[in-house]
Amino acid sequence: MEEKSILFEQIRSSGCLSYIVGSKSEKVGVVIDPEIDKTEEYLGLARHFAIELIYAIDTHTHADHSSACKILRDRAGIKAVMHRASEAPYVDVGVDEGDIVRCGDIAVEVLHTPGHTEDSTCLVIGNRIFTGDTLLIGGCGRTDLPGGNAEKQYESLQRLMALGDHLRVYPAHDYRHAVSTLGDEKKSNPRLLAPSKEEFVNFMTNRNPPLPRKIQSALEWNRTPIQGTQRGGGEGI
Ligand SMILES: [Fe+2]
Repeated sequence: MEEKSILFEQIRSSGCLSYIVGSKSEKVGVVIDPEIDKTEEYLGLARHFAIELIYAIDTHTHADHSSACKILRDRAGIKAVMHRASEAPYVDVGVDEGDIVRCGDIAVEVLHTPGHTEDSTCLVIGNRIFTGDTLLIGGCGRTDLPGGNAEKQYESLQRLMALGDHLRVYPAHDYRHAVSTLGDEKKSNPRLLAPSKEEFVNFMTNRNPPLPRKIQSALEWNRTPIQGTQRGGGEGI
């Protein structure tokens, strides 16, 4: 789809980044990695753009913030989308490697990129790649939290190395910058330039950063349904 027919908005909530991608002609859109405190903002942006949000997609089970997916689902009937390995009981559409989620003329291609978590995905929409916490600008997501695996993270990053340099990288956090390209990351990201799998795994398993402040409440929220609401079907697309 043509770039000029895309509505795109990056929404910042402290260090977390979420995104709205919409279709100007078809008046529909998706929200990626929505954060609970920004629920009103997503709905307001959808009103502003005069689009209907069809899907709320989490790139993975977040351990540092509460997802807005189940609130958006409950309040606005927006379908929650996550990888099949997700434990979230409210997922309507469970996706896997190679699946394409269609929303009007927007095609969201799913790459399964485990490592940060087992259910981690990257999403390709046109010339953008939403990398969740698989690839960050100048870094990558940690691998020591539940479901993390440094070896798988290495393999997933190697997969991204094979994709086109032109892809604009939009991560779930911006500890440094808010956007980059895959070409720039291949040249300068130390995690992508690790000389060997062994060195990468060694680095990731020895760094031991402190746990996210809200890990307990975030994981509890992100893995449970809203009381009194239906569980998602979780079936594939
Ligand atoms: Fe994460």
